[in-house]
Amino acid sequence: MPLRVIVGAQWGDEGKGRIVDWFAGGADFNARFNGGDNAGHTVTVGNRIFKLHLIPSGIIHPGMVAVLGNGMVINPRSLFNEIDELTQLGIRISPERLRISYAAHLITPAHQAMDKALETARGKDNIGTTGRGIGPAYTDKATRRGLRVADMLSADFSERVGEHVAETNLTLGLYGASALDPAPICAQFREYAERLKPYIADTSLELEAALQAGKTILVEAAQGTLLDLDFGTYPFVTSSSTTAPGALTGLGLGLGAARQASVIGVAKAFQTRVGSGPFPSELSGDLANRLRGSGSNPWDEFGTTTGRPRRVGWLDGVLLRYAVRINGINELTVTKLDILSGMENIQLCTAYRRDGNPVTDLPFGPADLSPYEPVYEQLPGWKEDVGTVRKWKDLPAAAQAYLERIASLAGVPIRLVSVGPEREQVVEKE
Ligand code: GDP
Ligand code: IMO
Ligand code: MG
Repeated sequence: MPLRVIVGAQWGDEGKGRIVDWFAGGADFNARFNGGDNAGHTVTVGNRIFKLHLIPSGIIHPGMVAVLGNGMVINPRSLFNEIDELTQLGIRISPERLRISYAAHLITPAHQAMDKALETARGKDNIGTTGRGIGPAYTDKATRRGLRVADMLSADFSERVGEHVAETNLTLGLYGASALDPAPICAQFREYAERLKPYIADTSLELEAALQAGKTILVEAAQGTLLDLDFGTYPFVTSSSTTAPGALTGLGLGLGAARQASVIGVAKAFQTRVGSGPFPSELSGDLANRLRGSGSNPWDEFGTTTGRPRRVGWLDGVLLRYAVRINGINELTVTKLDILSGMENIQLCTAYRRDGNPVTDLPFGPADLSPYEPVYEQLPGWKEDVGTVRKWKDLPAAAQAYLERIASLAGVPIRLVSVGPEREQVVEKE
Protein backbone atom coordinates (compact mmCIF):
# COMPACT_ATOMS: atom_id res chain seq x y z
CA MET A 1 0.00 0.00 0.00
CA PRO A 2 1.32 3.53 -0.77
CA LEU A 3 0.45 4.74 2.73
CA ARG A 4 1.69 2.58 5.60
CA VAL A 5 0.75 3.76 9.07
CA ILE A 6 2.73 2.42 12.05
CA VAL A 7 0.93 2.92 15.37
CA GLY A 8 1.58 1.94 18.96
CA ALA A 9 -1.03 -0.53 20.21
CA GLN A 10 -0.29 -0.06 23.93
CA TRP A 11 0.99 2.83 26.14
CA GLY A 12 3.89 3.87 23.91
CA ASP A 13 7.49 2.58 23.67
CA GLU A 14 6.33 -0.52 21.81
CA GLY A 15 9.36 -0.35 19.53
CA LYS A 16 7.76 1.77 16.80
CA GLY A 17 11.10 3.35 15.89
CA ARG A 18 12.82 0.05 15.11
CA ILE A 19 9.79 -1.17 13.14
CA VAL A 20 9.65 2.08 11.13
CA ASP A 21 13.34 1.50 10.38
CA TRP A 22 12.48 -1.99 9.13
CA PHE A 23 9.85 -0.69 6.70
CA ALA A 24 11.74 2.47 5.76
CA GLY A 25 13.88 0.76 3.14
CA GLY A 26 10.93 0.63 0.74
CA ALA A 27 9.51 4.12 1.40
CA ASP A 28 10.12 7.58 -0.08
CA PHE A 29 8.68 9.69 2.73
CA ASN A 30 8.51 9.17 6.50
CA ALA A 31 6.05 11.43 8.31
CA ARG A 32 5.22 12.16 11.95
CA PHE A 33 1.72 13.53 12.58
CA ASN A 34 1.34 13.95 16.34
CA GLY A 35 3.09 14.82 19.56
CA GLY A 36 6.52 16.34 19.90
CA ASP A 37 9.71 15.57 21.77
CA ASN A 38 7.78 13.62 24.40
CA ALA A 39 8.41 10.74 21.98
CA GLY A 40 11.63 8.74 22.13
CA HIS A 41 12.11 6.26 19.28
CA THR A 42 15.18 4.03 19.26
CA VAL A 43 16.86 2.49 16.24
CA THR A 44 19.93 0.30 16.70
CA VAL A 45 22.26 -0.24 13.77
CA GLY A 46 25.50 -1.99 14.71
CA ASN A 47 27.19 0.04 17.40
CA ARG A 48 25.14 3.14 16.61
CA ILE A 49 22.04 3.78 18.73
CA PHE A 50 19.81 6.51 17.33
CA LYS A 51 17.32 8.12 19.71
CA LEU A 52 14.80 10.11 17.73
CA HIS A 53 12.41 12.51 19.42
CA LEU A 54 11.02 14.76 16.70
CA ILE A 55 12.55 13.59 13.44
CA PRO A 56 11.01 10.44 11.93
CA SER A 57 13.10 7.32 12.49
CA GLY A 58 13.41 6.61 8.76
CA ILE A 59 15.75 9.59 8.34
CA ILE A 60 18.64 7.18 8.88
CA HIS A 61 17.96 5.77 5.41
CA PRO A 62 19.71 7.81 2.71
CA GLY A 63 17.28 9.47 0.35
CA MET A 64 14.35 9.40 2.76
CA VAL A 65 12.39 12.65 3.02
CA ALA A 66 11.23 13.29 6.59
CA VAL A 67 8.06 15.25 7.28
CA LEU A 68 6.91 16.92 10.51
CA GLY A 69 3.16 17.28 10.03
CA ASN A 70 0.71 19.98 11.08
CA GLY A 71 -0.55 17.86 13.98
CA MET A 72 2.80 18.11 15.76
CA VAL A 73 4.06 20.47 18.46
CA ILE A 74 7.70 21.36 17.89
CA ASN A 75 10.27 22.69 20.32
CA PRO A 76 12.85 24.30 18.00
CA ARG A 77 15.61 23.91 20.56
CA SER A 78 15.05 20.13 20.72
CA LEU A 79 14.83 19.98 16.95
CA PHE A 80 18.18 21.70 16.45
CA ASN A 81 19.80 19.55 19.15
CA GLU A 82 18.52 16.47 17.35
CA ILE A 83 19.75 17.71 13.97
CA ASP A 84 23.19 18.31 15.51
CA GLU A 85 23.25 14.87 17.16
CA LEU A 86 22.27 13.17 13.92
CA THR A 87 24.95 15.09 12.06
CA GLN A 88 27.51 13.77 14.55
CA LEU A 89 26.27 10.24 13.85
CA GLY A 90 26.83 10.81 10.14
CA ILE A 91 23.23 11.63 9.11
CA ARG A 92 23.11 14.91 7.22
CA ILE A 93 19.88 16.88 7.47
CA SER A 94 19.10 19.45 4.79
CA PRO A 95 15.90 21.32 3.90
CA GLU A 96 15.51 18.89 0.98
CA ARG A 97 15.31 15.98 3.45
CA LEU A 98 13.32 17.58 6.26
CA ARG A 99 10.02 19.32 5.57
CA ILE A 100 8.15 21.03 8.41
CA SER A 101 4.49 21.97 8.17
CA TYR A 102 3.75 25.67 8.38
CA ALA A 103 0.72 24.74 10.50
CA ALA A 104 2.54 22.79 13.21
CA HIS A 105 2.63 24.53 16.59
CA LEU A 106 5.70 25.70 18.48
CA ILE A 107 6.67 24.76 22.02
CA THR A 108 8.41 27.47 24.07
CA PRO A 109 10.00 27.53 27.54
CA ALA A 110 6.71 29.07 28.74
CA HIS A 111 4.86 25.88 27.75
CA GLN A 112 7.42 23.81 29.62
CA ALA A 113 7.06 26.00 32.71
CA MET A 114 3.26 25.60 32.52
CA ASP A 115 3.61 21.81 32.18
CA LYS A 116 5.68 21.77 35.36
CA ALA A 117 3.32 24.13 37.23
CA LEU A 118 0.26 22.06 36.32
CA GLU A 119 1.94 18.80 37.38
CA THR A 120 3.04 20.35 40.68
CA ALA A 121 -0.52 21.58 41.30
CA ARG A 122 -1.89 18.07 40.66
CA GLY A 123 0.29 16.77 43.46
CA LYS A 124 -0.03 13.03 44.01
CA ASP A 125 -2.64 12.85 41.22
CA ASN A 126 -0.13 14.04 38.64
CA ILE A 127 -0.16 12.58 35.14
CA GLY A 128 3.56 11.97 35.10
CA THR A 129 4.08 13.94 31.90
CA THR A 130 7.44 14.08 30.18
CA GLY A 131 7.67 17.77 31.14
CA ARG A 132 8.18 18.78 27.51
CA GLY A 133 5.32 21.32 27.45
CA ILE A 134 3.14 19.13 25.23
CA GLY A 135 -0.21 19.68 27.00
CA PRO A 136 0.16 23.48 27.30
CA ALA A 137 1.18 23.80 23.62
CA TYR A 138 -1.90 21.85 22.49
CA THR A 139 -4.01 23.88 24.95
CA ASP A 140 -2.84 27.10 23.27
CA LYS A 141 -3.63 25.55 19.89
CA ALA A 142 -7.17 24.69 20.99
CA THR A 143 -7.77 28.09 22.60
CA ARG A 144 -6.52 29.70 19.39
CA ARG A 145 -3.63 31.60 20.85
CA GLY A 146 -0.82 29.24 19.86
CA LEU A 147 2.31 30.09 17.94
CA ARG A 148 2.51 28.33 14.58
CA VAL A 149 5.61 27.52 12.57
CA ALA A 150 4.33 29.91 9.86
CA ASP A 151 4.41 32.75 12.40
CA MET A 152 8.19 32.55 12.17
CA LEU A 153 7.89 34.09 8.72
CA SER A 154 6.07 37.20 10.04
CA ALA A 155 7.88 40.44 10.73
CA ASP A 156 6.22 40.68 14.14
CA PHE A 157 7.12 37.10 15.25
CA SER A 158 9.33 38.29 18.07
CA GLU A 159 6.57 40.51 19.52
CA ARG A 160 4.14 37.61 19.35
CA VAL A 161 6.54 35.42 21.29
CA GLY A 162 6.80 38.21 23.86
CA GLU A 163 3.00 38.46 24.15
CA HIS A 164 2.76 34.67 24.52
CA VAL A 165 5.29 34.66 27.38
CA ALA A 166 3.59 37.62 29.11
CA GLU A 167 0.19 35.92 28.80
CA THR A 168 1.53 32.60 30.13
CA ASN A 169 3.17 34.46 33.03
CA LEU A 170 -0.31 35.48 34.21
CA THR A 171 -1.37 31.84 34.50
CA LEU A 172 1.97 30.78 35.98
CA GLY A 173 1.33 33.39 38.69
CA LEU A 174 -2.01 31.76 39.53
CA TYR A 175 -0.14 28.52 40.19
CA GLY A 176 2.48 30.26 42.30
CA ALA A 177 5.21 29.63 39.71
CA SER A 178 7.86 32.20 38.82
CA ALA A 179 7.35 34.43 35.80
CA LEU A 180 9.72 34.09 32.84
CA ASP A 181 11.67 36.98 31.33
CA PRO A 182 10.32 37.37 27.77
CA ALA A 183 13.41 39.17 26.37
CA PRO A 184 15.88 36.25 26.11
CA ILE A 185 13.13 33.92 24.86
CA CYS A 186 12.22 36.41 22.10
CA ALA A 187 15.86 36.75 21.09
CA GLN A 188 16.28 32.97 21.04
CA PHE A 189 13.17 32.42 18.96
CA ARG A 190 14.27 35.10 16.45
CA GLU A 191 17.40 32.99 15.89
CA TYR A 192 15.41 29.77 15.67
CA ALA A 193 13.15 31.38 13.04
CA GLU A 194 16.11 32.29 10.85
CA ARG A 195 17.46 28.74 11.04
CA LEU A 196 14.07 27.07 10.52
CA LYS A 197 12.83 29.13 7.56
CA PRO A 198 14.29 26.95 4.77
CA TYR A 199 12.51 23.88 6.17
CA ILE A 200 8.99 25.35 6.32
CA ALA A 201 6.64 23.86 3.74
CA ASP A 202 3.05 23.03 2.85
CA THR A 203 3.60 19.39 3.76
CA SER A 204 -0.05 18.49 3.11
CA LEU A 205 0.37 19.54 -0.51
CA GLU A 206 3.75 17.82 -0.84
CA LEU A 207 2.45 14.53 0.55
CA GLU A 208 -0.59 14.64 -1.73
CA ALA A 209 1.69 15.26 -4.71
CA ALA A 210 3.88 12.35 -3.59
CA LEU A 211 0.90 9.98 -3.50
CA GLN A 212 -0.23 11.20 -6.94
CA ALA A 213 3.26 10.49 -8.26
CA GLY A 214 3.10 6.90 -6.97
CA LYS A 215 5.54 7.42 -4.10
CA THR A 216 5.17 5.59 -0.80
CA ILE A 217 4.71 7.24 2.58
CA LEU A 218 5.54 5.63 5.88
CA VAL A 219 3.65 7.27 8.72
CA GLU A 220 5.10 7.04 12.23
CA ALA A 221 2.80 7.63 15.18
CA ALA A 222 4.19 8.80 18.48
CA GLN A 223 2.96 7.43 21.83
CA GLY A 224 0.35 4.65 21.76
CA THR A 225 -3.37 4.01 21.43
CA LEU A 226 -3.95 3.99 25.19
CA LEU A 227 -2.38 7.47 25.46
CA ASP A 228 -4.75 8.94 22.83
CA LEU A 229 -6.54 12.08 24.00
CA ASP A 230 -9.97 10.67 23.03
CA PHE A 231 -9.49 6.92 23.20
CA GLY A 232 -6.85 6.42 25.87
CA THR A 233 -6.98 6.05 29.64
CA TYR A 234 -8.19 9.66 30.07
CA PRO A 235 -7.05 11.80 31.86
CA PHE A 236 -3.78 9.81 32.02
CA VAL A 237 -3.06 10.39 28.36
CA THR A 238 -1.10 12.74 26.15
CA SER A 239 -2.76 15.72 24.45
CA SER A 240 -2.84 14.53 20.84
CA SER A 241 -4.48 11.99 18.61
CA THR A 242 -2.07 9.06 18.66
CA THR A 243 -4.20 6.65 16.63
CA ALA A 244 -4.23 5.91 12.89
CA PRO A 245 -7.17 8.17 11.93
CA GLY A 246 -5.21 11.07 13.47
CA ALA A 247 -2.62 10.55 10.74
CA LEU A 248 -5.03 12.02 8.20
CA THR A 249 -5.81 15.24 10.10
CA GLY A 250 -2.27 15.46 11.46
CA LEU A 251 -0.79 15.36 7.95
CA GLY A 252 -3.50 17.18 6.01
CA LEU A 253 -4.51 14.11 3.98
CA GLY A 254 -8.15 13.62 2.96
CA LEU A 255 -10.23 10.53 3.60
CA GLY A 256 -9.39 9.36 0.09
CA ALA A 257 -5.87 8.61 1.30
CA ALA A 258 -7.30 6.08 3.75
CA ARG A 259 -8.26 3.88 0.78
CA GLN A 260 -4.56 3.53 0.01
CA ALA A 261 -3.53 2.86 3.61
CA SER A 262 -2.58 -0.17 5.64
CA VAL A 263 -2.26 0.07 9.40
CA ILE A 264 0.40 -1.84 11.31
CA GLY A 265 0.02 -1.99 15.07
CA VAL A 266 3.14 -2.47 17.17
CA ALA A 267 2.77 -4.26 20.52
CA LYS A 268 5.33 -5.57 22.94
CA ALA A 269 5.16 -9.25 23.89
CA PHE A 270 4.28 -7.93 27.35
CA GLN A 271 2.94 -4.56 28.49
CA THR A 272 4.63 -1.40 29.78
CA ARG A 273 3.61 2.07 30.84
CA VAL A 274 5.53 5.14 31.99
CA GLY A 275 3.66 7.74 34.03
CA SER A 276 0.47 7.42 36.07
CA GLY A 277 -2.86 5.79 35.23
CA PRO A 278 -4.60 2.42 35.25
CA PHE A 279 -2.74 -0.77 34.29
CA PRO A 280 -4.84 -3.87 35.11
CA SER A 281 -2.17 -6.46 34.26
CA GLU A 282 0.66 -4.64 36.08
CA LEU A 283 3.24 -6.74 37.96
CA SER A 284 5.42 -5.91 40.91
CA GLY A 285 8.30 -7.62 42.69
CA ASP A 286 10.67 -10.15 41.13
CA LEU A 287 8.61 -10.79 37.99
CA ALA A 288 8.41 -7.07 37.29
CA ASN A 289 12.16 -6.66 37.80
CA ARG A 290 12.75 -9.61 35.48
CA LEU A 291 10.67 -8.07 32.67
CA ARG A 292 11.99 -4.53 33.22
CA GLY A 293 15.67 -5.45 33.37
CA SER A 294 18.19 -3.81 35.63
CA GLY A 295 18.98 -0.92 33.33
CA SER A 296 22.32 -2.37 32.27
CA ASN A 297 21.11 -3.04 28.70
CA PRO A 298 20.04 -0.17 26.43
CA TRP A 299 16.72 -1.95 25.77
CA ASP A 300 15.78 -2.37 29.44
CA GLU A 301 12.52 -0.71 30.42
CA PHE A 302 13.66 2.80 31.29
CA GLY A 303 12.21 5.76 29.37
CA THR A 304 14.08 6.88 26.23
CA THR A 305 13.08 10.50 26.85
CA THR A 306 13.07 10.80 30.64
CA GLY A 307 15.02 7.75 31.91
CA ARG A 308 12.16 6.87 34.29
CA PRO A 309 11.69 3.15 35.06
CA ARG A 310 8.70 1.84 33.14
CA ARG A 311 5.88 -0.03 34.85
CA VAL A 312 5.61 -3.56 33.44
CA GLY A 313 3.01 -6.32 33.27
CA TRP A 314 1.56 -9.16 31.20
CA LEU A 315 0.16 -8.53 27.75
CA ASP A 316 -3.42 -7.26 27.95
CA GLY A 317 -5.49 -8.88 25.19
CA VAL A 318 -8.62 -6.86 25.99
CA LEU A 319 -6.80 -3.57 25.43
CA LEU A 320 -5.01 -4.99 22.38
CA ARG A 321 -8.30 -5.91 20.71
CA TYR A 322 -9.58 -2.42 21.54
CA ALA A 323 -6.48 -0.91 19.85
CA VAL A 324 -7.10 -3.04 16.75
CA ARG A 325 -10.65 -1.65 16.51
CA ILE A 326 -9.85 2.03 17.18
CA ASN A 327 -6.95 2.11 14.69
CA GLY A 328 -8.32 -0.26 12.08
CA ILE A 329 -5.14 -2.32 12.44
CA ASN A 330 -4.62 -4.76 9.55
CA GLU A 331 -1.65 -6.59 10.98
CA LEU A 332 0.37 -6.70 14.17
CA THR A 333 4.07 -6.60 14.88
CA VAL A 334 5.17 -8.04 18.21
CA THR A 335 8.44 -6.76 19.71
CA LYS A 336 10.74 -7.87 22.51
CA LEU A 337 9.82 -11.55 22.25
CA ASP A 338 13.41 -12.31 23.30
CA ILE A 339 12.75 -10.87 26.76
CA LEU A 340 10.31 -13.70 27.53
CA SER A 341 12.89 -16.43 26.78
CA GLY A 342 13.65 -18.45 29.89
CA MET A 343 10.33 -17.84 31.65
CA GLU A 344 8.68 -21.03 32.81
CA ASN A 345 5.15 -19.80 32.16
CA ILE A 346 3.63 -16.75 30.56
CA GLN A 347 0.33 -15.23 31.58
CA LEU A 348 -1.87 -13.61 28.95
CA CYS A 349 -4.82 -11.44 29.95
CA THR A 350 -7.64 -12.72 27.73
CA ALA A 351 -10.63 -11.03 29.40
CA TYR A 352 -11.66 -8.95 32.40
CA ARG A 353 -14.02 -9.92 35.16
CA ARG A 354 -16.54 -7.42 36.51
CA ASP A 355 -18.82 -8.32 39.42
CA GLY A 356 -17.95 -11.96 38.77
CA ASN A 357 -18.89 -11.83 35.06
CA PRO A 358 -16.39 -12.08 32.20
CA VAL A 359 -16.07 -9.05 29.91
CA THR A 360 -14.13 -9.00 26.65
CA ASP A 361 -15.09 -5.51 25.43
CA LEU A 362 -15.04 -2.21 27.24
CA PRO A 363 -18.45 -0.53 27.32
CA PHE A 364 -17.09 3.00 27.85
CA GLY A 365 -13.49 2.73 26.71
CA PRO A 366 -10.46 2.31 28.96
CA ALA A 367 -10.66 5.53 31.05
CA ASP A 368 -11.96 3.80 34.16
CA LEU A 369 -10.57 0.30 34.45
CA SER A 370 -11.00 0.12 38.23
CA PRO A 371 -14.07 -2.18 38.19
CA TYR A 372 -12.20 -4.81 36.18
CA GLU A 373 -9.96 -7.64 37.22
CA PRO A 374 -7.82 -9.35 34.57
CA VAL A 375 -8.54 -12.97 33.67
CA TYR A 376 -5.34 -14.83 32.74
CA GLU A 377 -4.64 -17.78 30.55
CA GLN A 378 -1.37 -19.51 31.36
CA LEU A 379 0.81 -20.59 28.47
CA PRO A 380 4.06 -22.56 28.65
CA GLY A 381 7.24 -20.56 28.21
CA TRP A 382 10.37 -21.53 26.27
CA LYS A 383 14.02 -21.73 27.23
CA GLU A 384 15.74 -21.00 23.92
CA ASP A 385 17.30 -17.66 23.12
CA VAL A 386 15.34 -16.39 20.09
CA GLY A 387 17.68 -13.50 19.25
CA THR A 388 19.27 -15.30 16.31
CA VAL A 389 16.02 -16.72 14.87
CA ARG A 390 15.04 -15.25 11.48
CA LYS A 391 12.40 -17.74 10.30
CA TRP A 392 9.03 -18.39 11.88
CA LYS A 393 9.52 -22.17 11.72
CA ASP A 394 12.70 -21.81 13.81
CA LEU A 395 10.90 -20.13 16.70
CA PRO A 396 10.30 -22.51 19.64
CA ALA A 397 6.87 -24.15 19.41
CA ALA A 398 5.79 -22.50 22.67
CA ALA A 399 6.72 -19.07 21.30
CA GLN A 400 4.75 -19.74 18.13
CA ALA A 401 1.77 -20.84 20.21
CA TYR A 402 1.98 -17.70 22.35
CA LEU A 403 2.07 -15.46 19.25
CA GLU A 404 -0.82 -17.36 17.61
CA ARG A 405 -2.89 -16.91 20.76
CA ILE A 406 -2.19 -13.15 20.73
CA ALA A 407 -3.23 -12.95 17.07
CA SER A 408 -6.45 -14.85 17.70
CA LEU A 409 -7.30 -12.58 20.65
CA ALA A 410 -6.55 -9.47 18.60
CA GLY A 411 -8.43 -10.76 15.56
CA VAL A 412 -5.63 -9.81 13.12
CA PRO A 413 -2.52 -11.67 11.94
CA ILE A 414 1.00 -11.16 13.26
CA ARG A 415 3.29 -10.64 10.28
CA LEU A 416 6.47 -9.50 11.99
CA VAL A 417 8.18 -10.40 15.26
CA SER A 418 11.12 -8.52 16.68
CA VAL A 419 13.57 -10.68 18.63
CA GLY A 420 16.17 -8.06 19.56
CA PRO A 421 16.87 -4.35 19.17
CA GLU A 422 19.24 -4.73 16.20
CA ARG A 423 18.00 -3.82 12.74
CA GLU A 424 18.23 -7.42 11.46
CA GLN A 425 16.69 -9.12 14.52
CA VAL A 426 13.31 -9.63 12.90
CA VAL A 427 11.26 -12.71 12.02
CA GLU A 428 8.88 -12.31 9.08
CA LYS A 429 5.94 -14.67 8.88
CA GLU A 430 5.29 -15.57 5.26
P1 GDP B 1 9.19 3.48 20.61
O1 GDP B 1 8.95 4.71 21.38
O2 GDP B 1 7.91 2.74 20.34
O3 GDP B 1 9.97 3.70 19.34
O4 GDP B 1 10.07 2.51 21.53
P2 GDP B 1 11.36 2.93 22.41
O5 GDP B 1 12.51 3.12 21.50
O6 GDP B 1 11.02 4.04 23.34
O7 GDP B 1 11.53 1.65 23.33
C1 GDP B 1 11.77 0.40 22.80
C2 GDP B 1 13.09 -0.14 23.37
O8 GDP B 1 13.17 -1.52 23.12
C3 GDP B 1 14.32 0.46 22.68
O9 GDP B 1 15.39 0.48 23.60
C4 GDP B 1 14.59 -0.53 21.56
O10 GDP B 1 15.95 -0.54 21.14
C5 GDP B 1 14.24 -1.81 22.24
N1 GDP B 1 13.74 -2.86 21.35
C6 GDP B 1 12.90 -2.78 20.30
N2 GDP B 1 12.57 -3.99 19.84
C7 GDP B 1 13.23 -4.88 20.62
C8 GDP B 1 13.28 -6.31 20.68
O11 GDP B 1 12.65 -7.03 19.91
N3 GDP B 1 14.05 -6.86 21.68
C9 GDP B 1 14.76 -6.10 22.56
N4 GDP B 1 15.47 -6.72 23.50
N5 GDP B 1 14.72 -4.76 22.53
C10 GDP B 1 13.96 -4.16 21.59
P1 IMO C 1 6.82 7.19 22.39
O1 IMO C 1 6.51 7.87 21.07
C1 IMO C 1 5.54 6.36 26.46
C2 IMO C 1 3.27 9.54 28.51
C3 IMO C 1 3.90 10.24 29.68
C4 IMO C 1 2.67 10.55 30.51
C5 IMO C 1 1.64 10.90 29.43
C6 IMO C 1 1.49 12.39 29.17
O2 IMO C 1 8.27 7.10 22.69
O3 IMO C 1 6.10 5.90 22.49
P2 IMO C 1 3.01 14.18 27.93
O4 IMO C 1 4.40 14.64 28.19
O5 IMO C 1 2.80 13.63 26.55
O6 IMO C 1 1.98 15.23 28.26
O7 IMO C 1 2.77 12.97 28.98
O8 IMO C 1 2.08 10.26 28.25
N1 IMO C 1 4.08 9.55 27.26
C7 IMO C 1 4.71 8.48 26.76
N2 IMO C 1 4.85 7.23 27.25
N3 IMO C 1 6.03 6.66 25.25
C8 IMO C 1 5.89 7.92 24.75
O9 IMO C 1 6.25 8.22 23.48
C9 IMO C 1 5.23 8.89 25.52
N4 IMO C 1 4.93 10.20 25.33
C10 IMO C 1 4.21 10.58 26.40
O10 IMO C 1 4.79 9.38 30.37
O11 IMO C 1 2.21 9.38 31.15
MG1 MG D 1 9.61 5.61 23.18
